[in-house]
Formats: sequence, C-alpha cells, structure tokens
Amino acid sequence: MDHVHYAYVKGGRSIVRDLNREFHERTVTAIVGPSGSGKTTTLSLLSGLTTPTKGRILYRGADLAKLDRYRYRSHDVGVIFQSFNLLPALTVAENITLSMEASGVRFDQSKRDIVARLLERVRLPREYMNERILHLSGGEQQRVAIARALSYNLGIILADEPTGNLDMATQNDIMAIFRSLAHDEGKCVIIVTHSPQVAEQSDEVFTLPKRR
Ligand SMILES: Nc1ncnc2c1ncn2[C@@H]1O[C@H](COP(=O)(O)OP(=O)(O)OP(=O)(O)O)[C@@H](O)[C@H]1O
Ligand SMILES: [Mg+2]
Repeated sequence: MDHVHYAYVKGGRSIVRDLNREFHERTVTAIVGPSGSGKTTTLSLLSGLTTPTKGRILYRGADLAKLDRYRYRSHDVGVIFQSFNLLPALTVAENITLSMEASGVRFDQSKRDIVARLLERVRLPREYMNERILHLSGGEQQRVAIARALSYNLGIILADEPTGNLDMATQNDIMAIFRSLAHDEGKCVIIVTHSPQVAEQSDEVFTLPKRR
C-alpha cells in the first residue's frame, strides 16, 4: 500500500488515510485497531474489491488498479469472510467445488480428490465431505471456509476475524493452519483480528489508528 486513502463518498470523509505498508510472502500479518478504524475496508482494498480514492496498491510491483482485477481476485487472492459465506443446506464438498467451478481454474485431479486433500490441510476428517454445513460447529465451518479459499493455488489469503467466535483451543488450531500456510507453503496471510492472542501468534502486526 503506497499512500492509500479511501472515502466511501467522493469528496467525503476518508475511512482510511495514508496507509503505507508492505505485506510479505511466508508471513502472517495481523491487522488490528479499534472498531471503525477501517480494518474491513483495508481488506477490501487489498482484495481488489474496492480501489483506493488516492494512492496505489501494488501487487508484485504492478499497480492493482491497472491489472486485470478479475484475474487477481479469482487466481491470486482468497478471502475468508467473518460470516464464512457458506451455503448451509449444501454439503462441505458442494460448497468447495462450487467455488472451484466459479474460479474457472482448470484442475488435473478429480474434484473429490481435491476436496479430500483440502480437508486434510485444514485438519477436518475426510468423512465430513458429505456433511451439510448446518450440521457443523463454528470452528468446523471456519475450516471449511479456509479450505474453500485454498481450492485454487493462490498466493495471498485475507481473513476478516477468522477466530471471532471460537474458543481458545479452536482459535489456536485455526492460527496453526494460517501459520503453516505462510511458513510451509510460502503464502502471504493477512488477518484482521481483535484478539491479542491472535496478534501475538502472527509474525507482524499492522495497527490502524483510531479515526479522527
Ligand atoms: N458502505 C459504506 N458506506 C459508508 N461508510 C461505510 C461503509 N462501510 C463502512 N463504512 C464506515 O467506514 C468505517 C470503517 O469501517 P470498517 O468496517 O472498515 O471498520 P472495522 O475496523 O472493520 O470495524 P470493526 O472492528 O467494527 O469490524 C466505519 O465508520 C463505517 O461506518
Ligand atoms: Mg470489520
């Protein structure tokens, strides 16, 4: 982020002001700051969903505003929303394959094999594949949301309060997955959090100032 500003209304009050930060591969960065300081807005800017009203976001040196943002969003970056955005009546496997199909990426293995491998990466038993989302606990649903984000080979993972409603043990499990994705698979992981424990388990912390 190079002098990034964002205002929802043209000429209106800036939600984020002059953000400057580099995010790296192999690193888990926690974005922290008071409620309303613009954490979710910042994730949305980094995901390419919104463009800065001033300043630039560079991806591997190229201005995101000039890149094919649809390609960036469907190939390079995975977003995990706080509400998971899973379809409750569908099974775990259906939720994952639906997103694989939407990404338009070609796969050289059967979808079932890919789902099985993804579940292993987020430490969910293979038998969960045919379970409906509404039968899963919050922590299990969070794992499915992460598995779904990993269904194409992305370099950047963005997550908005991924451990929000989870107990400490589950929170630590989820953080172990994010750390492994960064440290073992070389991904750039950026998570918004209110939890001091999550910030402590991250490699870097980026603090947004309180809004003036
Ligand atoms: N679509 C929108 N239009 C106008 N203002 C908005 C919009 N979305 C968010 N805002 C405002 O932008 C500010 C920052 O919101 P944002 O959701 O980024 O904060 P946050 O740091 O994620 O807060 P929290 O910790 O409560 O999730 C808030 O004051 C919010 O009211
Ligand atoms: Mg938020």
